[in-house]
Amino acid sequence: MENPFKFGMVVRGSDFCDREKEMTDLIQIINSGMSVTLISPRRYGKTSLIINLLDRLEGYKKVYIDLMSVVSLNSFLEKYSTEILNSAGGLKKFINKLNRMIKISGKISLDIGNLKLEIDVDPNAVDDVEKIIELPSKIDGKFVIVIDEFQEVMNVTEIDLISILRKKFQFFQNTVFIFSGSKSSIMREIFANPSKPFYRFSQIYELQNLGEESKKFIMDKFRSSGVEIEDETFEKIYEITKGHAYYLQALSYHLWFLVREKKKAEVSDVYGALKKVIFGEKAAFESLWDDLTPNQKKVLKILSRDLSPYSARLSAGSVNRALESLKKIDLVDKNGEFRITDPIFKAWLRSYE
Ligand SMILES: Nc1ncnc2c1ncn2[C@@H]1O[C@H](COP(=O)(O)OP(=O)(O)O)[C@@H](O)[C@H]1O
Ligand SMILES: [Mg+2]
Repeated sequence: MENPFKFGMVVRGSDFCDREKEMTDLIQIINSGMSVTLISPRRYGKTSLIINLLDRLEGYKKVYIDLMSVVSLNSFLEKYSTEILNSAGGLKKFINKLNRMIKISGKISLDIGNLKLEIDVDPNAVDDVEKIIELPSKIDGKFVIVIDEFQEVMNVTEIDLISILRKKFQFFQNTVFIFSGSKSSIMREIFANPSKPFYRFSQIYELQNLGEESKKFIMDKFRSSGVEIEDETFEKIYEITKGHAYYLQALSYHLWFLVREKKKAEVSDVYGALKKVIFGEKAAFESLWDDLTPNQKKVLKILSRDLSPYSARLSAGSVNRALESLKKIDLVDKNGEFRITDPIFKAWLRSYE
């Protein structure tokens, strides 16, 4: 029997725990012609939600652009135009029209081997940049354009790309955008700051952890793979992961391996699985930890024990500064009280007591 839990990749179909409410909300926003900005910490399930959403949307040319590896203006433009042409029937279809569609002073050509466009424009030639960005308006049909990990657009420093995007995007007819990003503070700065170009361009949607719906999803997967599981075992999984999509899958994955022979998942088995999850994250947590200041470390240690950060032997000012800086890098968030965002990072901190 194959392990029914999947993590580290976009999940689809029966591996996707349906976020019915979010799906309905997003479809409604998009079908009304509004753009939307999805914000959450990494591995909450933004990309998976978007891909499943695209599967459901009908009547659009669908474009998915991931900015994770974009480091320069030309790499942005290449990715952007390649994906737009792909969604409009494939690059080859445009091979002979390309230079008529996009008349620029820079170079644009088709790399047939790698099936991508090669673009070389001078960052000072703002006209060139604008013409490439206008590409969707030269193609018939309705577009939904996803720009995932949008905050990475900040890596493009040769030009004020954000302002140009905003200036052009607002005139597109028949295009809705889904922006998505994991660096919450940068995303909020781009989309919710009145002095920034993308203010009020889209509806902001903060994606939360999975809720109730995850119970049936997890329990069904255990049962249909021949492993018995009781309510309490699921409750323990949920208590540890807080419904964090990636950790729900990762913890269940390890639990399934531990119990597949005895064919029963009990509460006491969850701790063994948790150790495996922590072990898998250890290197990443350690390098994160190394980059923190002593005060940030002190405050995190205290938060990991569910105590007030002000009970640290630090001045209130130092605690506040540490909290603000930790919030900026998404290690803590505030929902009434400050808490550590990543539940397994928290468990890792506690395991060193
Ligand atoms: N709706 C979901 N149902 C089940 N698992 C999910 C769901 N969304 C995300 N996951 C799990 O979380 C992992 C990370 O999801 P991903 O969509 O890449 O998050 P993000 O884009 O927010 O970083 C996936 O590999 C999968 O294991
Ligand atoms: Mg993602």
